[in-house]
Amino acid sequence: MDFYEVINRRRDVRAEFTGQPVDDDVLRRVLGAAHSAPSVGLSQPWDFVIVRDPVTRKAFQHHVASERATFADQLSGERAETFSKIKIEGILESTLSIVVTYNPAKGAPAVLGRHAIADAGLYSVCLAIQNLWLAATVEGLGVGWVSFYREDFLRELLDIPSSIRPVAWLCLGPVSRLHDVPDLERHGWRSRLPLEAVVHQERFG
Ligand SMILES: Cc1cc2nc3c(=O)[nH]c(=O)nc-3n(C[C@H](O)[C@H](O)[C@H](O)COP(=O)(O)O)c2cc1C
Repeated sequence: MDFYEVINRRRDVRAEFTGQPVDDDVLRRVLGAAHSAPSVGLSQPWDFVIVRDPVTRKAFQHHVASERATFADQLSGERAETFSKIKIEGILESTLSIVVTYNPAKGAPAVLGRHAIADAGLYSVCLAIQNLWLAATVEGLGVGWVSFYREDFLRELLDIPSSIRPVAWLCLGPVSRLHDVPDLERHGWRSRLPLEAVVHQERFG
C-alpha cells in the first residue's frame, strides 16, 4: 500500500473483528511504529499496556456499556434513535487491547518545548496512537479506539498510578474487512467535512 492508500484505508473498527491471533512479530512492529512517534522534548511520555485477559476485558466492557447508557440518556429524538443503532466498541470480539497512557514525568522537569503548552505531552501520545493505527492498517489489522470510560475506573482496573493518565483503550486484531466509509457516516451520525471547510488563508476568522 502506498502512504496515501494507508491513510484512506485506516478505519475505526467495531463490528468487523474476527478474534484471530495476532503474530508476536506483527504486534512488535506495530508497537515499534507507535514508539517511533515524535514527542515534545523527545520525552516519549507513552506506555502501552497489552490486555488479553478476558476477565479484565469483560470488566471494562461492562463499564463502557454503562457509560454508553449515560451518553444515550443525554440524547433525544433523531439523535437518540440514530445512536441506538451504532456499535461503539469491539472489546470482546477483538484479539487483544492496548491501553496507551501518558506520563508527564518522563523527561521532566525540563521538557524542551512543553514550558508554555502543557498539552504538548498529550499531543505526543496521540501521535504514537496514530502511528500505531496506521501501522496496524498496513499489517491488515483493525483498530478501534474506545473512549467511553472514566479515567479513574481504568486506572484502578489496570493498576495505573494516579499521576499517569490513560489516553486510549485500543481494540486490535484481524478484521473481516475495512469499510470504505466511516461507521458514523454510514449510520447517519455525522459526515466528513470537505477540506475547504477547514483550510483558512492568512487569518482564522
Ligand atoms: C479520541 C478518539 C476517541 C474515539 N472514541 C471512540 C469510541 O469510544 N467509540 C467508537 O466507536 N469510536 C471512537 N472513535 C472513532 C471515531 O468515531 C472515528 O475515528 C470517526 O468516526 C471517523 O471514522 P474512521 O476512524 O473510520 O475514519 C474515537 C476516535 C478518536 C480519535
